[in-house]
Amino acid sequence: MSDKQEIYEDKNEYLRVYFKTTGQYSNYHYFWLRHNCACCAHETTRERILCPSKVPLDIRPREILVQENKGIRLIWEDGHVSDFALDWLLEHAYALDESVTDIQAQNLAHIAVQYDDCKDDFVAICDRYLNEKGAVLVRGCTLDVDALVAYLTDEVFVLRDSHFGYIEDLRTDNTTNKNTDQLGYTNAAVNLHTDQPFIEHPPRFQLLLCVQTADEGGENMLADALQAAHYLRDLDRVAFEALTEIPVVFHRNQKNFECKTRYPVLSFDADQFRQIRSSYFTLAPQTSSFGQMTQWYRAYQLFTKIIEDPAHQFRVLLQPQDFVLYDNYRMLHGRTTFSGGRWMKGIYFDYQ
Ligand SMILES: [Fe+2]
Repeated sequence: MSDKQEIYEDKNEYLRVYFKTTGQYSNYHYFWLRHNCACCAHETTRERILCPSKVPLDIRPREILVQENKGIRLIWEDGHVSDFALDWLLEHAYALDESVTDIQAQNLAHIAVQYDDCKDDFVAICDRYLNEKGAVLVRGCTLDVDALVAYLTDEVFVLRDSHFGYIEDLRTDNTTNKNTDQLGYTNAAVNLHTDQPFIEHPPRFQLLLCVQTADEGGENMLADALQAAHYLRDLDRVAFEALTEIPVVFHRNQKNFECKTRYPVLSFDADQFRQIRSSYFTLAPQTSSFGQMTQWYRAYQLFTKIIEDPAHQFRVLLQPQDFVLYDNYRMLHGRTTFSGGRWMKGIYFDYQ
């Protein structure tokens, strides 16, 4: 650890400061630090002249410096400089030794396996990755989707039907599925979401097998809602409660299919994460109370900002014979816009 890291860590949403003298640490919101800037006081009375209402909640420093006396200097975007002595920070610590669950960096190596390296224990390895990491990326498996399904459903998994059929052809000229009037069959970007939140029991797992890559674009993204939910709970308890307690209406309304449910975005059993339901393209006009509406939108925007942080996402350009398999109750998925004949086969599974 460098000397600098021993003193502070920029956690993006907040600053963590380490106090060598006591062996403790504390977290400080950047807006709190900006508001408590020592020089923002009247020159003779020393009264604070900066009102908290004037500090943007998303304020971030442009630069963080350690001073020779081991204090911390923050240089804000507008050039304003705030100096904090470590003794002062310790004296005013409001989150001493309080941990905030970090989201692990989403490195593809964490979920990727080569089919040839795991084919003897293939299904068990997929199941283990799903349990531990929420997703698995298998490289170089097969183009034979029927054989793959037979393999996976021999034990552990069972195939799951949907309102568009058993095997979905995600391509722009799809004619093989029922109810093709949905974003998945266009070349539009599809931002992070979960599938089928509008039915009572959404499919537990989705597999996307790459048959053909796009000429350009068409990357897949995955984000871990379990980690993001724990992070949100520590970062902003009110936002967390809005997403776990305020139900929202999901409504799939197609030409020949309609289904509606009402659930919170995040579901927990006591302290245990159970499920996320999130799909901006099937959200109906919401009907929560007037006072809750602001709270829910604010919370949803904060949660989306967390999961859309590139550091919190897996991004992969699948090649033919590669597939991703993920837990639709835990992982959000999406894809970037593309051109050309991109073709993925989508299949849902539950546990047997
Ligand atoms: Fe989807």
